[in-house]
Amino acid sequence: MPTTRSASSFGTADARPLDLVIFGGAGDLSARKLLPSLYMCHRDGNLPGGTRIIGVGRHAWDREAFVGFADEKAKPFVDARYLDAAKWQTFLERLDFVRLDASQPADYEALAEKLRDEALRIYYMAMPPGLFAATCDNLAGHGLIADDTRLVLEKPLGVDLASAIAISEVVNRYFTEDRTYRIDHYLGKETVQNLMALRFGNSIFEPLWRTPFVCSVQITVAETVGVGSRGGFYDEAGAMRDMIQNHLLQLVSILAMEPPAALNSDAVRDEKLKVLRSLRPMSPEDVRRNTVRGQYTAGAIAGELVRGYLQEDGIPPDSRTETFVAMRAELGTWRWNKVPFYLRTGKRMQERVTEVVINFAQVPHSIFDPGSTLQPNRMVIRLQPEESVRLTLMVKQPGEGMKLKPLSLALNLDSAFTTRRAEAYERLLLDVIRGRLALFVRRDELQAAWTWVDPILEAWRQQDEGPRPYTAGTWGPAASSAFMAREGMQWSEEA
Ligand code: BG6
Repeated sequence: MPTTRSASSFGTADARPLDLVIFGGAGDLSARKLLPSLYMCHRDGNLPGGTRIIGVGRHAWDREAFVGFADEKAKPFVDARYLDAAKWQTFLERLDFVRLDASQPADYEALAEKLRDEALRIYYMAMPPGLFAATCDNLAGHGLIADDTRLVLEKPLGVDLASAIAISEVVNRYFTEDRTYRIDHYLGKETVQNLMALRFGNSIFEPLWRTPFVCSVQITVAETVGVGSRGGFYDEAGAMRDMIQNHLLQLVSILAMEPPAALNSDAVRDEKLKVLRSLRPMSPEDVRRNTVRGQYTAGAIAGELVRGYLQEDGIPPDSRTETFVAMRAELGTWRWNKVPFYLRTGKRMQERVTEVVINFAQVPHSIFDPGSTLQPNRMVIRLQPEESVRLTLMVKQPGEGMKLKPLSLALNLDSAFTTRRAEAYERLLLDVIRGRLALFVRRDELQAAWTWVDPILEAWRQQDEGPRPYTAGTWGPAASSAFMAREGMQWSEEA
C-alpha cells in the first residue's frame, strides 16, 4: 500500500530532498556553527538524500568561493576526531552559493533558479532582523514560499517587546507558527534537556521541587570570552538582551515548569509559557534593589592579559552597556511563591561554567552536637563545561559523639556516557528538518520574556549610575557578592 509522506517524518536517505538556504551564509555563525553542524549531520547519514545547502549573501561569490570559505573558515570548527576527508568532500559537494542583497527583489531571480520544486525548503535567517521583513516579502513575491516551507530565526529577535512583536508579525504573515523555528541554542544542549530527564524521570525530586522545600535557586552562566569581534552588535544588546532574556529565562522555565502531560512541543511550551508569564514584574525600585550590572575592565584570564570592554573594537569609549548581570527574579505561583531565583551571567569571568544550584531547606530542628553545623542540602547541576550532578548530604564523621559534615553524592555524566553528544546546533538543525518544534521558542514565550525584561532595561536607562566595573578574570563586581550577602546568601563558588 502506498504511504503518504508526512513533512515531519523524514531524515533518511530515501526521503524528500531538501534545499536548505542560509541567509548570512558567509557569516560568522555559518562558519562556526551551522556548516560544522551540517557536516556532522551529513557524516552520520542524517541529511535526506539530495540535500543541498545554499549559502546566500552579498559577496560576489560563486560556488567555488563558498566551498573555499567552508574549507578555510568552517572546517577548523569541526571536532578533529570526526573529520573524515572523504566525507568532508562529499559534504562540500552539497554546497552552493547565491549572491543576493536581501533588499533587492531582482536578486531573488538567481535564488529561484537554484531551488527545486520537489524539495522541501528551509530558510535559515542568520542575519540581522532588520532584513527579515524585506527577505520574507521578496521570497513571497517570487513565489518561493510553499505551504510547507520552514523558517528558522536566529536571535536577536528584537531589542524589546515592540520590536519582537513587529518581527513576529512580519514572519507570521508568510509562515504559520508551526513552520517558524526560533532558535535558542541552549535548548539544543543535551545537558539542558537532561534537566527535564532529572525532574520528570525521577519521582524523588518532584515532591520537593517547590516552596518550602526549595529555598532558593541559583543559575550562573559565566564565560571567559570577551565580546571579541562582535563589539558593534554586543554594545547594542548587553548581557540582559544577549543572555538573560533568552538563555537564562529558558533555563528558569525548564527548572520551574509544572510537569507537562506529554513531551510534545505544545505541551512543553505551554508549561514553559506559564512560568515566563508568572515572572513578577519589577518596579524601578525593585530593579535598583534586585539587580547588579557590571562591565569588565582589563585583567587576566588564565594568566593572559586581556583588554577591558571599553578598549574592545567597535565599543564607544563612554559605553554603559553591561557585560555582567546578577539579579533576583521571583515567580508568582503557588509552587514558587517567595523562592528567589538568582540569575547571573557575565563575560570575561574567572571560569567558564554554567551551573544550576538548588538550595533545599534547613532541617527544622537539630538534635546533633552544637559543634555540628548542619548545612542545608544542595543540588548542583553543572551543564558546562562538564556535565555532572552533585547532591550534598550531611553524614556523621567517624569517632565519638555525633559530629556531622557535608559529603557529596556525585554523578559524572561525561564519564558515564562515552558516546558522542550532538552539538546544540546539530540537534536543532535535525529537529527543523524532522519538523520537531519542542526545542524552539514559541512566539508567546518570546513575548512573555520581553514583557518582563522591558521595564528592567527601562529602569536601568533611567538610573544615573551605569554598570560597575569589574576586573576581567574575576567573578564580577564586588557589588554582586554584597548583593547576595544582603540576601543572606552566597554565590556557589563562595559557599
Ligand atoms: C550566544 C551569545 O547566544 O551565547 C554569546 O550571543 C554567548 O554572547 C553564547 O557567548 C554562549 O553560548 P555557549 O553555548 O558558549 O554557552
